[in-house]
Amino acid sequence: MEKVVVTGPTAGIGRAAAIAIAASGRHVIAAGRSREKLEALMREIDAAGGSAEWVQMDLASLRSVTGAATEILDRHGRIDVLVNNAGVGASTGATRDGFQIQFGVNHLGHFHLTELLAPALGPGARVVQLSSEMHRGAKGIGFARVRRPTRPWEGLSAYAASKLANLVFARELARRRPGIRTYAVHPGLVDTGIFPRVVRPFLRNAVTPEEGADTVVFCATDPGVADSTGGYWAKRKERDPDDLARDERLAEELWARSEEWCRPFH
Ligand SMILES: NC(=O)c1ccc[n+]([C@@H]2O[C@H](COP(=O)([O-])OP(=O)(O)OC[C@H]3O[C@@H](n4cnc5c(N)ncnc54)[C@H](OP(=O)(O)O)[C@@H]3O)[C@@H](O)[C@H]2O)c1
Repeated sequence: MEKVVVTGPTAGIGRAAAIAIAASGRHVIAAGRSREKLEALMREIDAAGGSAEWVQMDLASLRSVTGAATEILDRHGRIDVLVNNAGVGASTGATRDGFQIQFGVNHLGHFHLTELLAPALGPGARVVQLSSEMHRGAKGIGFARVRRPTRPWEGLSAYAASKLANLVFARELARRRPGIRTYAVHPGLVDTGIFPRVVRPFLRNAVTPEEGADTVVFCATDPGVADSTGGYWAKRKERDPDDLARDERLAEELWARSEEWCRPFH
């Protein structure tokens, strides 16, 4: 049975993806921060006849990510798919390690998790990385800025930069680890809790979490995309990302800095 790690499986797109992946006959390893919500997800998957287990992980703490990865590696020698889905939107604040909350949770925590799980990601393994069309709004990653808390007026631009980082990371991972297949996914405009409560009634054309999870599940499981890697996907099709997402110097710098920032937590 294929084993699929899903981050952020307790709400929105990740929850819908975890349920669909379990329904497809794969074993889900749900990595989330809320024990209560994880246990509720286990009950739901179990009642539907699926197979799943959970591990507690707060992506806003690199130490917590190390603990979760160690636990996953202790339990499993092989992971077939890693879905890096968890994310925060236009929030303010910082991670435990002092990074902007969007950069820390959306990019750095996932970078650290992926690096730690790499020994279990054998040839043909897939990494699906949630990104967003919002990446087109980013002027760069702002490496000085990501080292301090997000201020109230920076939420959206910090989010856009983190989604650019997600795309750059997925492309660079494909280049550095040719054995692994990577897919960066835009799920569409999806009605989830990532948007502030006051905004949700005004989300025109937003799709359900299940519809938003469709391309995520497709890239995680479809045999037809197994030969593709490093691409940007939406509505089950590869599309061109912004030019910045293909900037090799930006990719080199993001990788080098992320490695340096995560090193003390190995
Ligand atoms: N919704 C959209 O329109 C849209 C569009 C483009 C891209 N995306 C991307 O899709 C992904 C999922 O977003 P969503 O819309 O499904 O959001 P959501 O409903 O708010 O769900 C976010 C998930 O991430 C988890 N999470 C947040 N902070 C975390 C942390 N510090 N540690 C561990 N887990 C954490 C949440 O856990 P809790 O349940 O514990 O809060 C939840 O499971 C994100 O990467 C987002 O950028 C969404």
